[in-house]
Amino acid sequence: MSVASSPMLRKAGHAGPATRSGGSHDLTQHAEQVFELEGWTVHEVASVDSTNLFAAKLPVWHAVRAEVQTAGRGRFQRIWISDQGGLWLSAVVPSPPRGVASSGPGHENAGSFAPPCSRPAQPWLPLVAGLAVCDALAELGLTGFRMRWPNDVLVRDRKLAGLLLDQFTPDRVVVGVGLNVRNQPEASDAALQNQATRLVDWLPESPGLTAVAAVLLRHLRRLALEASQQGFAAMQPRVNALWQGPRRVQLLLDDGSRPGLFTSVDEDGCLLLEDEAGRTTAYNPSQVHHLREI
Ligand code: BTN
Repeated sequence: MSVASSPMLRKAGHAGPATRSGGSHDLTQHAEQVFELEGWTVHEVASVDSTNLFAAKLPVWHAVRAEVQTAGRGRFQRIWISDQGGLWLSAVVPSPPRGVASSGPGHENAGSFAPPCSRPAQPWLPLVAGLAVCDALAELGLTGFRMRWPNDVLVRDRKLAGLLLDQFTPDRVVVGVGLNVRNQPEASDAALQNQATRLVDWLPESPGLTAVAAVLLRHLRRLALEASQQGFAAMQPRVNALWQGPRRVQLLLDDGSRPGLFTSVDEDGCLLLEDEAGRTTAYNPSQVHHLREI
């Protein structure tokens, strides 16, 4: 996993539609295994182009995990290296009708939402998904990690996990999580040597991928339901505790770039940036194309 600027994510052509095969329960033969886990129906496949594209056709509270992705998708239309041993997981959560749980105007590229979502009903959902990943990592025993806006997870400034949210249909959102567990992304791209990190580098024992998926899915379901019932404000303090800020950043916006101090997000999930004069401006995630820490 890594950030948009990481070379782990290389430009590529558009990935094709997901294919699936059924019947056998042998992952090594590219079959699909389906089981119930933590309130989810989980599909496990050996290989797929992108789990997010596979999940595009799944109902709410279904998730798919692939052993490898042949065309894993990162933010900014980059390729996400998805070799054996990493967690490549996409989970489908409900999206309320626009206006029900929406806060603020939202258009393209809200947080880690990727097109074709043009106006996400829950612009803060990328933050909630990031919180779910962090809660799962904490439960697995990881310490010393932080989040980089909107939801990259870093350990000592190296990327451990990245998220890509896709809204293919109005009623549901696909939350895609890429988490380096015991894979070796630098074997595919040497430039990742000092940029990516893996869970096994920080835990005494390597956890099983299905077990990691179970913990993550449990937290994602809990927080998605909490956010839809109580709104984002209920979890704002928990999200803000993960930035380990304030941090000097450069925001890439619709109308240019802006330097400042990233302090936190507000109760609507808007990014708060303090300028040199001490004035704070709130940016809807949809306005921020990219945040670069400087
Ligand atoms: C990023 O650029 O930081 C986001 C990377 C997201 C990768 C995950 S792996 C599972 C899911 N399927 C994809 O094709 N992408 C996401």
